[in-house]
Amino acid sequence: MSESGSFPSAFLWGAATSAYQIEGSPLADGAGPSNWHQFCHEPGHIENGESGDVACDHYRRYREDVELMARIGIKAYRFSISWSRVLPKGCGTVNEKGLEFYRRLSDSLLENGIQPFATLYHWDLPAALEARGGWAHPDCAHWFADYALVLFQRLRDQIPYWATLNEPWVVVHAGYIEGSHPPGLRSPATAPRVTHTLLRGHALAVQAFRAEGSGHGQIGLVVNLEPKRAASSDPADLAAMERAHAYMNRQFLDPVLLGAYPDEMAAVFGRAWPRFPDQDMRLIREPIDFLGINYYSRSVVRDDPAGDLCGVSRVRQAAAEHTAMDWEVFPEGLESCLLWVRRRYGALPLYVTENGAAFEDAPMHSTAIKDVRRLDYLRRHLLAARRAMAAGVDLRGYFVWSLLDNFEWTHGYAKRFGIVGVDFPTQRRILKDSGKFYSDVIRSQGALLDP
Ligand code: FCB
Repeated sequence: MSESGSFPSAFLWGAATSAYQIEGSPLADGAGPSNWHQFCHEPGHIENGESGDVACDHYRRYREDVELMARIGIKAYRFSISWSRVLPKGCGTVNEKGLEFYRRLSDSLLENGIQPFATLYHWDLPAALEARGGWAHPDCAHWFADYALVLFQRLRDQIPYWATLNEPWVVVHAGYIEGSHPPGLRSPATAPRVTHTLLRGHALAVQAFRAEGSGHGQIGLVVNLEPKRAASSDPADLAAMERAHAYMNRQFLDPVLLGAYPDEMAAVFGRAWPRFPDQDMRLIREPIDFLGINYYSRSVVRDDPAGDLCGVSRVRQAAAEHTAMDWEVFPEGLESCLLWVRRRYGALPLYVTENGAAFEDAPMHSTAIKDVRRLDYLRRHLLAARRAMAAGVDLRGYFVWSLLDNFEWTHGYAKRFGIVGVDFPTQRRILKDSGKFYSDVIRSQGALLDP
């Protein structure tokens, strides 16, 4: 493929969301509460005291949303499954009505010519399991694989693409280091075990997929990657960059794809980083069919013993463009991440499973939303993806984050990532200019990206 012109005809042009961020009705039809439901209802965690109680009301409006995707021309939809809808207590009896929602959603996607791409865990753990220790309990790996097996047995005919975990780094870092996500802990002593249990859970789920296998479907893992650059050529800053890179970008990929955690982990965590059993490391290396990469930004770092866990602090690039999340806009980083993955881990099929930007949009009473900056962000990142493909990266698809403005975790509804605007009081959907642009890109098979 060349640096200009069309993408391959099989390229999956997609859009992504996650269950807790869009569905609403978190306790409907026999669902159990999730840790996110509980966390949002404890004061002080979320801006303006908001929650996913209503969100985009997608649980009740999914048909309308699927039709909208079909009108845009979207070929694949990455959504996540709420564990506690399917298993209200996390284990045990299946809640048929909860499972039925995902069957209806998948059927409706297929009827509209859209491929379902399901993530099994996008951060909402059943509250009943959090109460038993959550991911810090070693059995959580088995609880997760048992839940995954239920879905493989019941929905495999409808769903061709499966991802086990979304961004395990965020689960550990935000949940157990920063304390900004549930379970809200600041416990570097616990974090290494959580990393390891997540990866054992991922591998056991992949094994369950193969064992149950009717031969079709693909399964992979989704990680967030962020290139790190040193603020100077000072050896201390260069070492800081390597620690930050190992901690964020290699902590999960090295064990899954190379069979060992990075040596830097022991430097970051000290004695809290145990030596994990060889048999676990063999398990974690269970082959996957693809890797999903979520890419938003890069970071420039310097050595700072008073900084974060890695002894690093971030140097904000004041002259650069930033999104409403204060994330630097850096499209070249997507290209360099894709090339780095190929260089380090070999020729694995890749998907960009999330990429997008929050910006302040025009007020929602308007009928059109001229989100020029989001449109430009998408265009420049798609061009970066195409350059990586021209350099030999086996990129099979791209999912914009997000289909809809939605509940952005601790930021509540303040940050809008959608290519479709949502007027939350009325639940009206408005296709933004970025959505119209994406639709034209899809219809031109990417040719429209060329200036
Ligand atoms: C990613 C998450 C997704 C969304 C985007 C903005 O880290 O996977 O749910 O919050 O960031």
